[in-house]
Amino acid sequence: MLDTLLRRLLRTPRVDVWRGWYRRYDENPFAVDPESVSRERFLSLAAGTRRNDALVATLGERFGKLPDAEFVDELALATQVVPKDEELDWSHGFLLYAVLTSYLEQVGSDRPVTIFETGTARGFSAVCMAKALRDAGRAGTILTVDMLHAERPLFWNSIADADGPKTRVELLEPWADLVEDHVVFLRGDVSVALEQIGLVRIHFAFLDAEHTYDAVRDELAFVAAHQQPRDVIVCDDYTPRAFPEIVRAVDELAATGAYELETFASSPGRGYAYLQKSG
Ligand SMILES: C[S@@+](CC[C@H](N)C(=O)[O-])C[C@H]1O[C@@H](n2cnc3c(N)ncnc32)[C@H](O)[C@@H]1O
Repeated sequence: MLDTLLRRLLRTPRVDVWRGWYRRYDENPFAVDPESVSRERFLSLAAGTRRNDALVATLGERFGKLPDAEFVDELALATQVVPKDEELDWSHGFLLYAVLTSYLEQVGSDRPVTIFETGTARGFSAVCMAKALRDAGRAGTILTVDMLHAERPLFWNSIADADGPKTRVELLEPWADLVEDHVVFLRGDVSVALEQIGLVRIHFAFLDAEHTYDAVRDELAFVAAHQQPRDVIVCDDYTPRAFPEIVRAVDELAATGAYELETFASSPGRGYAYLQKSG
């Protein structure tokens, strides 16, 4: 009965149109016609864009070690250089590397660390954190959640689209060793993942998925419940004008006294929150 109903439904043109749209979205979630953007366009975008050198210098002074800039820029060409309205800025790769390296030095144990990330996208931030683990000679796993498929070939609105759709793992092929050693991609809605993941400890977290107050508040509460003194949360887009809801959620957590908050800005439109658990 249900079977017949479904078959009948799937035969109707309306459903076929919907299914076609859905498939297109699912394979090309960034909704960019890959043939409309040339390789040269990506290269010129990359050439015209710079990380914020002043912020990077500040991070070096504050946290000590910085990543190899060439490594970050090459990774950014595949994963951050995309045609979009906002200014391109991959300073968060430098921030994550510097903060994680400093954290690893502070805690100084040889035990593996668990890192939790919301909002994988093309994997830029995850690979930057994997590089910090590798350079510090530390074992650790980055569990990173996104609703985008990890194993389905997609167009990523990236320079790599010129060769056809790729899985995220294929997109990150030049960094396959880091991914293999340190990264686990989880596909799903973050709010569902929070209920499904059973973790004892989250040493370090990077939150960069849904930018609403409720989502960020819930993610912060989830991570905070699994952290111990000195553990760290970094939030992207702590930017009062553009993302007041993120700022509100972060400030509320800091106001409880459970975390020390420090903020960094790359531009008036792009800031970051660094929270370290008190105690
Ligand atoms: C700003 S991007 C992440 C960028 C990435 N951290 C980086 O540095 O390259 C946000 C990502 O979060 C994902 N996202 C947004 N809301 C989500 C949700 N509720 N559940 C799962 N993924 C979500 C989007 O699919 C998108 O890939």
